[in-house]
Amino acid sequence: MSSPITTIRDVGKHDGQSVTIRGWLYNLRESGKLLFPIFRDGSGQIQGVVPKSAVPPQVFDAIKNLTQESSVIVEGKVRADKRAPGGYELDVANVEVVQRVSESDPYPISLKEHGVEFLMEHRHLWLRSPRQASVLRVRAEIIKAARDFFDDRGFVLTDPPILTPSACEGTSTLFPVDYFDEQAYLTQSGQLYLEATAMALGKVYSFGPTFRAEKSKTRRHLTEFWMVEPEIAYGTLDDVMELAESLLTFLVKRCLERRHADLVIIGRDLEKLQKIEAPFPRITYDEAVAALQEGFAKGAVENKFEWGGDLGSPDETYLSSQYDRPLMIHRYPATVKAFYMEPDPQRPDVALCVDVLAPEGYGEIIGGSQRMFSHELLLQRIHDHGLPEEAFKWYLDLRKYGSVPHSGFGMGIERAVAWICGLEHVRETIPFPRMLNRLYP
Ligand code: 4AD
Ligand code: MG
Repeated sequence: MSSPITTIRDVGKHDGQSVTIRGWLYNLRESGKLLFPIFRDGSGQIQGVVPKSAVPPQVFDAIKNLTQESSVIVEGKVRADKRAPGGYELDVANVEVVQRVSESDPYPISLKEHGVEFLMEHRHLWLRSPRQASVLRVRAEIIKAARDFFDDRGFVLTDPPILTPSACEGTSTLFPVDYFDEQAYLTQSGQLYLEATAMALGKVYSFGPTFRAEKSKTRRHLTEFWMVEPEIAYGTLDDVMELAESLLTFLVKRCLERRHADLVIIGRDLEKLQKIEAPFPRITYDEAVAALQEGFAKGAVENKFEWGGDLGSPDETYLSSQYDRPLMIHRYPATVKAFYMEPDPQRPDVALCVDVLAPEGYGEIIGGSQRMFSHELLLQRIHDHGLPEEAFKWYLDLRKYGSVPHSGFGMGIERAVAWICGLEHVRETIPFPRMLNRLYP
């Protein structure tokens, strides 16, 4: 094929010219002496038009015999067509079949509907479907945008370790690893290490995989997920609430600007995203409890919520459904939160922490807090939580050598993608999800 190689996304730059496209057959329609193959190449889809009279018989036959997902290199002339979804069609002149999928073992995912379990079992192929590919493009955009956001605001990327000697978010949800006869764990969060790098560099962030051995089988839980975590020396709870608000508005705006076509393919209600603007509503845990109890009295909430409990999914859904922007709930009881959180000096029974709940029932997408300042109190908490002091010696050092107030948060990328794409389940937000019952493919 002698015509220049291009991608389907870029065919518009070659209107009226001959190009070569390398991809796969997505679908083939026939109408008398006309073939309408739809090709995909990862960047998009384009419909080809092949009249029997316009091409050599072997080209016509080769296309006519193509099976779904056969790999092909096609040459043809790009023609603008207003009715085409991408704005262009391809008048096919030649085809090279790279590998024809045999009809005795056809591509398992036909264009009919399949059950989710079947699709998950064929995740390695399901990723080729247009909707899944669009979700992954939005995911990539969100990751790039999050990095740009922190890079442009003077945060330094510092990568925490993945193999760790101790817990960050609770000992019951750790994946143990044998580390040369020593017990190690896969990290649950880079936070503790970020606190150390923040003391060295001021404003830092990390973006990496984290692991939770939670036996939760909900649409929000993965056992392996990616988190972006900023940490700010001298930062307060108010500072991180403001930062979380700007990050989320930035991510949504970026996706609307750069991934509009993908969001349309996914079927996202864009109006809901267009409403995401600062300021976000902020309520205390106490106010959340009052709202839940009021909801219970009206019959809108199923169970009576008592002060001191952690908010469950239905509680979060009810609270966030009152707003069309993300809801920030701050100052939870210290007893339901992690050991490292600074108590509110006005109210020592509550922690200086915040959970950000996405609208439309997506639940918590960000969790953050101000970190404990005092060496004495931190040591006390480590003991209270039954954590091994030895493993936290270095972490305690941070409170011995120039302790400062500091704060940060973690945003789960998959939860952010699920919300921005409007997906029912986080399993579609990552190429190969790891869940309680899934380790394959
Ligand atoms: O609220 P979490 O547990 O907070 C921390 O890990 C802090 N150490 C972060 C910090 O302050 N640097 O987790 C943070 C976020 C959650 O809000 C949620 O978006 C996501 O991580 N997350 C999960 N996402 C998918 N599956 C799971 N099992 C998740 N657990 C938490
Ligand atoms: Mg949390």
